[in-house]
Amino acid sequence: MKYEKIQGPKGVREYLPPESAAFEWARNQLIAPAKAAGYQLMELPVFEDTNLFTRGVGESTDVVSKEMYTFEDRGGRSITLRPEGTAGVMRAVIEQNLDRGQLPVKVWYSGQFFRAERPQAGRYRQFYQVGIEAIGLDDPAIDAEVIAIADQGFKNLGLKNYRLEITSLGDAQSRAAHRVDLMAFIKKMSLDEATAQRAEINPLRLFDDKRPEMQAAMSKAPLLLDYLSESSRKSFEQVQSYLRAMNIAFDVNPRMVRGLDYYTGTTFEFVHSDLGAQSGIGGGGRYDGLMEILGGQSLSGIGFGLGVDRALLAAIAEKSLPAQDFTSDLFLIPLGESAMQVSLTTAQELRDAGIRTEIAFGDRALKGAMKAADKSGARYVVVLGDSELSSGEVDLKRMSDGVITSVKITQLRDQLRQALSL
Ligand code: HAM
Repeated sequence: MKYEKIQGPKGVREYLPPESAAFEWARNQLIAPAKAAGYQLMELPVFEDTNLFTRGVGESTDVVSKEMYTFEDRGGRSITLRPEGTAGVMRAVIEQNLDRGQLPVKVWYSGQFFRAERPQAGRYRQFYQVGIEAIGLDDPAIDAEVIAIADQGFKNLGLKNYRLEITSLGDAQSRAAHRVDLMAFIKKMSLDEATAQRAEINPLRLFDDKRPEMQAAMSKAPLLLDYLSESSRKSFEQVQSYLRAMNIAFDVNPRMVRGLDYYTGTTFEFVHSDLGAQSGIGGGGRYDGLMEILGGQSLSGIGFGLGVDRALLAAIAEKSLPAQDFTSDLFLIPLGESAMQVSLTTAQELRDAGIRTEIAFGDRALKGAMKAADKSGARYVVVLGDSELSSGEVDLKRMSDGVITSVKITQLRDQLRQALSL
């Protein structure tokens, strides 16, 4: 009987070797600045009670109304695969009482997120984010720090062709004042049922409506930035002045609309110019009412999520990937049984010293093994046969130019550490 092959799920990007090394590198680079700033890891479930997202992320959003992977589990509970990370972090902080300890709570996370979007380049149904959240401090300085950490992540990838856009959604007072005028403006437009409903829940959504007639109509709508309360305006100015002090370039975009409803105050997006339609490589902002909505105390928070898939696409487009970082330092080719034994122990010793060492397994002929060494991209190759074992010396071949140095096996470690400047 012949079985049919099974296909992977639609719209999911997989990372297999050798490209997976670049993915891993990108993810680590993106999160390194958060670790350096004292953010600590939070590992959370990829599925949660559906209410967490309907309430936390908001029913006016596409994410909640159209894109959630929701199902009933075996106990009849409604479960949703997490479409984003902030709500889950907040749920855990409240549940584990982290907000009763030292503030701000500063955490980072990394992993898969799920949105049933129409798949296209840079837009996947399972995608990867690294993110941070700083909870329990309402201070423009931490807003600036959070933005700077995201910016440093992109700089770590060597990215240059991106722009930072920021705006402020103000405090409750600012939004209430704006809402009165915006709703009056919207009432004069003739809207279809669904759009009117969306406007009722969150009128700012209409700025994000991609239909040309809507864009044209909304071009004259009152902007929230013009309604900021005195304290919101001061805070937003302070954020900008901190960013300038840190030499972080930005544009104020008063029409920015984030795809999630919890945002208040400072919000921001990083937009890359080489990625076509899916240009958002990261975004975030303040969410001062979220903890309360989720049943916790009334504390503020700010954070970001960076799209690892898109950041990697951007690094590929800008050719900023450091290729040789992804390969082994040494490829060891043992010829015969005793050579294999020496190779296994030598490899252990070399790896201990930080030298990435691969062994050619499978008792291949020398020619085949050399081909494998070449393909692996390793920087050095050593062949270990009977004559090398008896002389105690090997030829260390540098693959970039073919230069061969004769080295005692016992000296291999020091010689390589020096050559690799470890
Ligand atoms: P978000 O803007 O929805 O924010 O997502 C953050 C980033 O995830 C986006 O800028 C994009 O790079 C990436 N992304 C989103 N959807 C997809 C997709 N379908 N395929 C590929 N990449 C995608 C949030 O998720 C917030 N939780 C961020 C945050 C944290 N705000 C405050 N704290």
